[in-house]
Amino acid sequence: MRLHHFLIAFAALPLLAADARHGREMLDDLSCLQCHTVQGEGHRVGAAPDLGERVQQLGTPSAVASALWNHTPAMWNEMSARVVTRPVATDDEYRDVMTYLWSLGLMNNPADAKRGARVFKDKRCGSCHKSGGAPGASQVATWKVAEDPFSLLEGMWNHSGTMHKEFAARHWEWNKITGRDLMDLTAFVGQTRVEPATYRAGFAIPDADPRSQAAFQERCASCHNGANSLQSKLKTQSWMEIGAAMWNHAPLMKKGGATPGPAAPGEMRLILAYVWDLQHRDGEAVVERGKALFADKKCAECHQGSPRPGQKFTPYSMIALGWGPGRVMHQKMGDTGIKWPYLSTQNMADLTAYLNSLASR
Ligand code: HEC
Ligand code: HEC
Ligand code: HEC
Ligand code: HEC
Repeated sequence: MRLHHFLIAFAALPLLAADARHGREMLDDLSCLQCHTVQGEGHRVGAAPDLGERVQQLGTPSAVASALWNHTPAMWNEMSARVVTRPVATDDEYRDVMTYLWSLGLMNNPADAKRGARVFKDKRCGSCHKSGGAPGASQVATWKVAEDPFSLLEGMWNHSGTMHKEFAARHWEWNKITGRDLMDLTAFVGQTRVEPATYRAGFAIPDADPRSQAAFQERCASCHNGANSLQSKLKTQSWMEIGAAMWNHAPLMKKGGATPGPAAPGEMRLILAYVWDLQHRDGEAVVERGKALFADKKCAECHQGSPRPGQKFTPYSMIALGWGPGRVMHQKMGDTGIKWPYLSTQNMADLTAYLNSLASR
């Protein structure tokens, strides 16, 4: 079960609604791989980072736009030196590229059933889930829940209340697991079942679906709000890491008083999609700050009003600008003695909001 299997059905991310497969193709077209690597493919030139890793670290669209914008002149120099074709793509195509690069973080490793067997033993799952184990603990061979990591997780989550009691009765500490453990456990369970698991050739990430947010509100928001909001806590966690956190929660559920209750079939997937997506959203953007920047960064010296009247902007527009018309802009700046301005992540978000406010006027 390797990463690319998971990408097959990866048509639409919640909220981002981007096409990761198309993004993968674009990477070749855009010649990014002439200077960068992605999962071992491509060539690395000079200080050019691995794109998958770097984009994971950067996190939000504005952070990626900021990094690319600020490095754009350096990349141009590198490009002229190497005579690679200059990439030109639309806003949406850049969105697809970034979505693909983020999607690489869904799973950090290919699943390893052998390691999963060790986890099953080390985390004591095997002490209860065997004949003569804990009462009511079924044997893995009969589990129906292992179509993919999410259905396994659903089983684990829904029964965690009883399991927690069984742990306590034995004076065992609750055994935390990692994202990798969850992935490998899934592979192990899939192999051990009487009816061998036919892994779906890729589990679909749910489409934009208002149920995701509703489920999160109902089951998670009582604890995860304000200072405990997940948007501020999570940065670059994979789906599996977020899933593992679900299992690791079980002991908290008692103390908190707020018991989220069992998840309906498919619900865990919806919740994880929502939580995962939270990491890739930008923080608050302020139009007024964007307006001030437009003047301070000297944009207003050349642009009276919107540089692209009537059209919407996203942070991806700013990436597309850096690589496309930005080159013309750069030359113009050179001629008029204006330096390519530095734009931070927050600057990007604010400027985008301001440009949109112009467009809608
Ligand atoms: C001609 C070579 C070349 C090509 C083509 C190229 N890059 Fe780069 N890129 C670089 C170099 C060199 C750096 C490091 C620059 C630096 O640190 O000053 C870099 C840095 C980056 C960074 C990291 C910026 C940061 O702050 O960490 C990102 C993201 C990036 N490139 C994305 C892309 C994407 C997406 C494409 C395809 C559209 C692309 N690059 C095409 C050479 C290239
Ligand atoms: C202390 C004993 C104990 C341990 C250790 C334990 N379980 Fe369980 N498990 C149970 C019991 C008892 C049930 C049935 C709970 C119920 O009926 O609600 C159960 C139910 C389950 C189910 C639902 C099975 C089904 O038939 O649908 C899954 C999945 C599961 N456990 C996974 C695990 C995993 C993975 C581990 C190790 C990380 C683990 N369990 C460790 C006692 C245990
Ligand atoms: C009873 C309160 C409570 C509920 C309900 C709850 N959580 Fe949590 N959650 C916590 C606490 C407390 C932590 C911090 C645990 C720690 O740091 O060890 C946490 C941690 C997490 C983390 C890891 C955060 C990190 O920093 O790595 C994730 C992910 C998470 N929760 C997701 C969820 C989701 C999704 C739901 C709903 C299905 C949920 N939680 C429901 C209390 C809760
Ligand atoms: C020295 C003059 C100059 C400055 C300063 C300048 N620009 Fe531009 N900008 C241009 C030119 C010229 C073009 C058109 C390039 C083309 O048409 O190919 C352009 C194009 C654009 C576009 C793309 C419009 C399109 O058709 O998609 C955007 C967006 C933009 N600029 C935003 C900005 C922002 C934001 C700033 C400040 C950070 C800025 N510009 C600073 C001259 C400038």
